[in-house]
Amino acid sequence: MKVLVIGAGGREHALAWRCAASARVQEVLVAPGNAGTALEPKCRNVPVGAEDIPALVDLARREGVQLTIVGPEGPLVAGVVDAFEAAGLACFGPRRQAARLEGSKAFTKDFLERHGIPTARSRTFTREDYDPSWLERQPLPLVIKASGLAAGKGVIIAETLEEARAAVGEMFAGRFGHAGEQVVVEEFLRGEEVSFIVMADGAHVLPLATSQDHKRRDDGDRGPNTGGMGAYSPAPRVTPELHARIMREVIEPTIAGLAADGTPYTGFLYAGLMVAEDGTPNVLEFNCRLGDPETQPVLSRLRSDLAVLCEAALAGRLDTVSAQWDLRAALGVVLAARGYPDTVRKGDRIEGLEQAAALAAGRGKVFHAGTRLEGGRVLTDGGRVLCAVGLGESVSTAAETAYALVGAIHWPDMQYRRDIGHRAIARERRG
Ligand code: AMP
Ligand code: GLY
Repeated sequence: MKVLVIGAGGREHALAWRCAASARVQEVLVAPGNAGTALEPKCRNVPVGAEDIPALVDLARREGVQLTIVGPEGPLVAGVVDAFEAAGLACFGPRRQAARLEGSKAFTKDFLERHGIPTARSRTFTREDYDPSWLERQPLPLVIKASGLAAGKGVIIAETLEEARAAVGEMFAGRFGHAGEQVVVEEFLRGEEVSFIVMADGAHVLPLATSQDHKRRDDGDRGPNTGGMGAYSPAPRVTPELHARIMREVIEPTIAGLAADGTPYTGFLYAGLMVAEDGTPNVLEFNCRLGDPETQPVLSRLRSDLAVLCEAALAGRLDTVSAQWDLRAALGVVLAARGYPDTVRKGDRIEGLEQAAALAAGRGKVFHAGTRLEGGRVLTDGGRVLCAVGLGESVSTAAETAYALVGAIHWPDMQYRRDIGHRAIARERRG
């Protein structure tokens, strides 16, 4: 069969690579892909943008694609799955109505409250019904969120009332475009942040291996928030007890609630949670897709056929399959261009990829994100450029391998964190 992967990041390189590993898959098209997917055996980049839904439908029809997997949230929230379905094409991901779980925080807060799923107390305002006096009566800090998609930048933690007022004001003034037309103001929660990723088929759920990312740019979890500077799997802090609670109190009622509301959820679902001291898993956010970079270590451990799992989900048969995982741990270190998460320079030549690939044989892989191929050379082409994943008997040994791969790679001003996995590694050292 022929598979199409939509997107251009590290997550999509990992998705394409896993699909290409299936004996049943002849070819994987990637739209638009990166240098990594261009060089990957059995994969072929197609110059169609991830947001160009009519062109993606045309491509899938023309090429006889039997399964499409959508990487990023943009096309999902814009209705790519609905468009494929209308054309009679199989596409794994949530339809537009279900993708509102990521596309509209206002929708999600209302959904969570209606279905009794734990989350921070909140109110949603539009410019018309905004009530500044309500803000004054709330305890600080307050969390101010632009409701729509804001590339991970639309959340402001306000320590003072002035900051809170200013944040709401900026959102209504258009700082995040349409995303800020509705503003969610919510209580600040304390606890441990945990992410949890599953596959769903509208009714059943298959949890993926646990994982944890590092969102801050600099060592010691300092510096600006990013899409993620590294991730590892498994995440030891997700104990079997916590796993069971998240499934029972968050994932199952979410899938059941969406089905009951007439908008069943099929696709990957990513829950960002704040686990309170008493163990309550409060939902901070949902993403209607896999995490990036979590996908790179998670799929590095997947032993089952990803295309088969996606097909089972599209047939509503996820309850009849299981996923097998490599018992080793996997850890990925993101190599970013200088300046990330702000504006970065592009077009630097990346050295050492062959040496890294030789070192990685059987125990890791370097995934591409912001890269492009020019005259046979791999050049930087984005903020997050590569993700070097190592496998090992423990998170510590996986980290040693990952950093050995990092050591082989070079371009001017590349930056990366030296402490990915530090909490899990400290936990391992404590035994
Ligand atoms: P979100 O995009 O909603 O996940 O928010 C981005 C980040 O802001 C999260 O990963 C948390 O670190 C933080 N955050 C969001 N909501 C809250 C909250 N209610 N309390 C504390 N921190 C929060
Ligand atoms: N790494 C977090 C995300 O993909 O949103």
